[in-house]
Amino acid sequence: MPKLIVTTREGETSEIEVETGLTVMEAIRDNGFDELLALCGGCCSCATCHVHVDPEFADKLPEMSEDEDDLLESSDHRSDNSRLSCQIPFGAELDGLKVTIAPED
Ligand code: FES
Repeated sequence: MPKLIVTTREGETSEIEVETGLTVMEAIRDNGFDELLALCGGCCSCATCHVHVDPEFADKLPEMSEDEDDLLESSDHRSDNSRLSCQIPFGAELDGLKVTIAPED
């Protein structure tokens, strides 16, 4: 199974294996990272699934929708590599993806 590498707000990094069909948000949440709240359940309306993605993978990610862009704009912690993890379907092409959970707004 493809691997996802997650760094928490405290700087702890772990590697998780992700079954196909999940988004990055679901993979993180289902592996017990409670700090990723994902309050809206993945419908792109809360921004509590904000992550910073390793820039090396930038060109492999799906394009950002206007809604995602607007929501990220409301975060004080937006950076060039910010994404909402519920908007990234995870699969073999993203094997080894590194994400860091963004600070809470
Ligand atoms: S879970 Fe709410 S925007 Fe991603």
